Amino acid sequence: MDYFEINGSKTLNGVVEVGGAKNAVLPLMAATILNKGKLRISNVPTLSDSITMSKLLEEMGVEVKFESDNSIFVDSSKLDTPFAPYDLVKTMRASFYVLGPLLARFGKAKVSLPGGCAWGPRPVDFHLEGLKALGVKISIENGYVVADGSNLTGNKIHFPKISVGATGNVVMVAILAKGRTTITNAASEPEIQQLCEMLNSMGANISGIGSNILTIEGVSSLNSISNISVIPDRIEAGTFLIAAAAIGGEVEVTNIIPEHLDSVINCLQKANIQLEVKDSSIVVRSKKEDILSTNIETNEYPGFPTDLQAQWMMLMCLAKGNSTIKENIYYDRFTHIMELNRLGCNIKLEDSVAIIEGDRKLIGADVMSTDIRASAALIIAALCASGTTKISRIYHIDRGYDNIEKKLTNIGAEIFRKK
Ligand code: EPZ
Repeated sequence: MDYFEINGSKTLNGVVEVGGAKNAVLPLMAATILNKGKLRISNVPTLSDSITMSKLLEEMGVEVKFESDNSIFVDSSKLDTPFAPYDLVKTMRASFYVLGPLLARFGKAKVSLPGGCAWGPRPVDFHLEGLKALGVKISIENGYVVADGSNLTGNKIHFPKISVGATGNVVMVAILAKGRTTITNAASEPEIQQLCEMLNSMGANISGIGSNILTIEGVSSLNSISNISVIPDRIEAGTFLIAAAAIGGEVEVTNIIPEHLDSVINCLQKANIQLEVKDSSIVVRSKKEDILSTNIETNEYPGFPTDLQAQWMMLMCLAKGNSTIKENIYYDRFTHIMELNRLGCNIKLEDSVAIIEGDRKLIGADVMSTDIRASAALIIAALCASGTTKISRIYHIDRGYDNIEKKLTNIGAEIFRKK
């Protein structure tokens, strides 16, 4: 299996361009199921997750072609099988996004329940309860959700906890249900905003986009659109901002939407990281010795994203003084702590709160990736450590970052992918 070999203690200098958002392209690809049509999706990141979603769509009869200019051409006119098999769904939880559009188009669907992930169970009860509220009959048979949605009717839906995936799935059904649906405690993440905007451009009637209350007037049919461009990946952008802050130097992170990163910018500035925020880029100027310890809590958008928690934890290991991180989205998303401690960090966990000792001197070691974002934190740590680090199981990183080693090498890092 591939691994990364990283030589630490180099500063970073230069420009890094961010790609399209993984967590936007996946629901957009699922939404192509909704009606027969041909769509070009541009600014698509080359990630194993985008490829997994394309394989799932092809399994159902959709034609998906990856083109050289980071775009994909999707033709869903021959889609005839509302079935998503376990062997594909188990590799990527976001495959569950196909449930809603299959129900909306065919009135029925059979989709495998997703597996868990590195940091524990990730239930789909909110998805199922929301769909039942719209009149969908659901049974669980041999690990599959078997759904009958022949009589979709709008309703009032309240999510007990904000859920990105459940909001996306339920919206993609409600837009073709009879009557009005209101969703309270809906997700307002930029990726869900883009999904709702795409659906409206297809003829749906969704209002409240960007808030936690969505009102959907059901329509009888949708029209096709010819193209859509994926929004920039705010998590990839935040990862590079934190990397530059931790490693030191001057780096401009380009092709971003700064307001999608307001909470991260705010925390970096509290940690005394010098930022220059421009229209579509941010310049980080960091002297490592100046980082101030800053406590954070992860929250739903626009709060500090859980997908940058591991990377932030790494930064705080270098800060002056101790700090804490409270993880409010996934109480057990801490598998990276043990690996970071192997590199010389000193992090403890008490009741879903990480206590991070600052001023640590990191020393290269062999470590193991456990999930996409933990891998990013380990790469940052390795670049801050003295000596060489070997990171195994880097298939995790390839799920969420497009050619990260090339982007880092271009700004001065010594990182090599090896067999
Ligand atoms: C999306 O996952 C993202 N993935 C995750 O990014 C991200 O961490 C997460 O949202 C939170 O922002 C994609 O968009 C593909 P949720 P999702 O439903 O939709 C609980 C990455 O690294 N919950 O918003 O699966 C759940 O356990 C990935 O890019 C239920 O209890 O997350 C969690 O505690 C990791 N029942 C909370 O809600 C449900 O039915 C939020 O989960 C659904 C969720």
